[in-house]
Amino acid sequence: QTGMFTYDPGFTSTASCDSALTYIDGDEGVLLHRGYPIGQLAEHSSFMEVAHLLLNGELPSKDELDTFTYTISRHTMLHEQLAQFYRGFRRDAHPMAIMCGVVGALSAFYHDSTDITDPTHRLIASHRLIAKMPTIAAMAYKYSIGQPFLYPQNDLSYTGNFLRMTFGVPAEPYEVNPIVERALDRIFILHADHEQNASTSTVRLAGSSGANPFACIAAGIACLWGPAHGGANEAALNMLREIGTPDKIPHYIDRAKNKNDPFRLMGFGHRVYKNYDPRATVMQKTVREVLGELGVTDPIFDVALQLEEMALKDEYFVEKKLFPNVDFYSGVILSAIGFPTTMFTALFALARTVGWVAQWNEMISDPAQKIGRPRQLYTGPAEREYVAVGER
Ligand code: SDX
Repeated sequence: QTGMFTYDPGFTSTASCDSALTYIDGDEGVLLHRGYPIGQLAEHSSFMEVAHLLLNGELPSKDELDTFTYTISRHTMLHEQLAQFYRGFRRDAHPMAIMCGVVGALSAFYHDSTDITDPTHRLIASHRLIAKMPTIAAMAYKYSIGQPFLYPQNDLSYTGNFLRMTFGVPAEPYEVNPIVERALDRIFILHADHEQNASTSTVRLAGSSGANPFACIAAGIACLWGPAHGGANEAALNMLREIGTPDKIPHYIDRAKNKNDPFRLMGFGHRVYKNYDPRATVMQKTVREVLGELGVTDPIFDVALQLEEMALKDEYFVEKKLFPNVDFYSGVILSAIGFPTTMFTALFALARTVGWVAQWNEMISDPAQKIGRPRQLYTGPAEREYVAVGER
């Protein structure tokens, strides 16, 4: 049950819990959301549908989807005073720093959705978080480039609304590009949830103490920012740009294998997948489609493809079962759409908010739920007597 901790000498102690949301088979490269394969959801579903599926357990009917989407759209605006909060940041603040701050601050504004014992509060908080993350992320981007904030326009889709708030300007009409909208919506689906990864475990552990949902999601954002986790998408594209041309790839593969060199291939490897990350498969396919449909060629994509090909032929990577993960190709598409690398992890957080919120709800609504309390193997000194400073 939730809160049960296991200790395996092969790993640091990990929280383990029951969950019905997402199933991963790392050896077979399988990822299911409530039983549906990620490849089918990415191909046929939408991010709002997947959000409904993760939150409610079933794919929605047309009416249920319309109601859910309308409900989410009622919460897309941000309290006007929170816009002032942005103005306290330096212009060069990383969007993840802003998102950590602003999402945590939501609990200072939305008091009618912070009582975790009240199912209505929990439902409203869940909808608010999912609805406001695009607005918060878009405002972080606008603030960083000195452009005015755009208010949400709720006749657009969830993803189309985000694209307009990010790339639109008050002076001109903004036309959502359906190719970009579809690709970004698929990227959001691929990032929605992923079992008990570090940031989701952070949200669950924070939530297990009874902290309000906004504070818990802010904790998840902080954890996701790390380059070993969600920060890898930004690091992976920066790495591909640093490699620059295919002839440099062997040098970087050698560096990644050198134990005296801290360099790792960003976007490669995974704690659970010891086979291909099924999300990376969809992501690579989407890169080809989007670059083709947009008529864009990006030499970085060729570097990524050749890096993958050479790494997967190298016995080090084969032996250690290191494959591309969800972060390896995502940056190529996000860059082609026009996002700066500093926004990549913010987009990951935007999408993963659906999973965090669904996991938090699953935990907090379990009557047997108890506060998480990891234990340790003590490796310090045995008990000893105090020594006065003059005798030390
Ligand atoms: C995400 O948990 C999730 O589900 C996360 C995520 C999600 O959706 O929430 O899937 C999203 O975080 C994907 C991972 C993004 N991170 C990166 O791409 C960063 C680069 N990858 C590595 O840092 C690493 O692969 C991890 C952190 C992802 C996994 O690390 P593990 O499971 O702790 O594996 P490890 O560090 O013990 O590595 C095992 C071996 C080591 O060599 P040895 O000590 O056995 O000799 O493989 C090596 C590592 O040195 N290794 C790598 C490598 N990843 C692991 N060597 C070179 N390049 C790499 N990328």
